[in-house]
Amino acid sequence: MGTSYIGVYGMGVMGQSIALNIANHGYKTVVYNRSEAKTKSFLESIDNKNISGAYSLEEFLNSLESPRRILLMLTAGPVVDKAIDEIIPYLDKDDIIIDGGNTYFKDTIRREACLKEKGIGFIGAGVSGGEKGALEGPSIMPSGERKTYEAVEKLLMDISAKTPDGFPCCTYIGPDGSGHFVKTVHNGIEYADIQIICDIYQLMRDVGGMNAEEMQQVFEKWNEGRLNSYLIDITSKILKRKDEETGKPILDIVLDTAGQKGTGKWTSMEALDLGVPVPSIVESVFARYLSAMKEDRVKASKVFQQAERKPVLDKARFIEDLENALYAAKICVYAQGYQLLQEASNHYHWDLDLGEISLIWREGCIIRAAFLNDIKKIYSQEKNISNLMLSELFSKALKESYEGFRRTCIMAIENGIPVPGLMSTLSYFDAYRTENSSANLLQAQRDFFGAHTYERVDKEGFFHTVWE
Ligand code: 6PG
Repeated sequence: MGTSYIGVYGMGVMGQSIALNIANHGYKTVVYNRSEAKTKSFLESIDNKNISGAYSLEEFLNSLESPRRILLMLTAGPVVDKAIDEIIPYLDKDDIIIDGGNTYFKDTIRREACLKEKGIGFIGAGVSGGEKGALEGPSIMPSGERKTYEAVEKLLMDISAKTPDGFPCCTYIGPDGSGHFVKTVHNGIEYADIQIICDIYQLMRDVGGMNAEEMQQVFEKWNEGRLNSYLIDITSKILKRKDEETGKPILDIVLDTAGQKGTGKWTSMEALDLGVPVPSIVESVFARYLSAMKEDRVKASKVFQQAERKPVLDKARFIEDLENALYAAKICVYAQGYQLLQEASNHYHWDLDLGEISLIWREGCIIRAAFLNDIKKIYSQEKNISNLMLSELFSKALKESYEGFRRTCIMAIENGIPVPGLMSTLSYFDAYRTENSSANLLQAQRDFFGAHTYERVDKEGFFHTVWE
């Protein structure tokens, strides 16, 4: 056996960054990549005595101490299966594989069960924070058998992000695929949070007529208040940056077609399967699809004239409404994500600790935000709360903010500005707080055309009417 504490398989940007992070914490690390060139160029670019390279799987796995710890940093999907199949012949009982990619959680459930039969430990670890986070400390969401987790706990804690008071942003999430599921929902929330910020930006730009500098100042100020978060902070930084070639704000020359790698879609799919309403997340996925139809949009913009813009008369009130809209929408977005986590926890028997998850999302990850402390507080005080919007803290905030939220959506409608994130979120909020919905008519129609029966408000049971 060898002497390296851990092996990192996969030398993409995330793999390189996390290998350095591990080595910087004093762990002897061996790295491996299918193409030798990447390993070589990585080793040439660094000066770290704790990192060595291996150029065959045999060399890689033989240079690890026993039991082996192997961290896979690969593109999610078949590549991970292939890598696992290739390394299995070299492994011994009690060796541990950690998958640190953005893996679909059902793949993690399958892989963990399969490896358990062979006596090999498997940890599915959600890792958030992008390249910088991987290097300086990401938020880590690991799951699997507890004893397997305990064998790598110190390492994961060491390399994770820390809050200013030293709290490590890593905790045992639960069994099998729960860690990757929690990471997926993190990304679903990320999608919706990004979309509502983009909606607000478009209103500032197209209704408020604000330039990049004015918008930047507003976002910077908001970041000092209750909206304080990584995404607001980077929005302000993005608005500040000028293109070196043209001198224009870079944002003005970035093409408006969004990409995605699938985690928002997975969150939406799982919510549909579990019957949990997450319209803001689903809508933010659709908004990205629509944005990518640039040619069609350009054509349609010539067919349908832009609605006449109504000038903003009171700028201070306009900005105040936008802030309220963003805060209220943010509460509703997180409420949807957390409800999905709760339902999945019940369904898959994961026993997720939602308060604890909030704590490890406070640093390192993309959705880090000051108000995650509030969410933790809510789960400590109102343990069995069914939806965060009903908590004392957030219901009060929503009551104070929703007039501004509503005015913002009305303004968008009047000006013909698409705000899919805000509108779907307001509609979710309004539907959630409606005592008498229109579903009585829906049920009557179903019974009319399909004899699907309906329940009555005045007595128990299922009824059918012969409608004609
Ligand atoms: C993170 C991010 C990351 C994700 C990117 C891109 O937590 O570090 O969620 O995992 O891959 O944000 O995602 P999309 O390409 O789907 O926008």
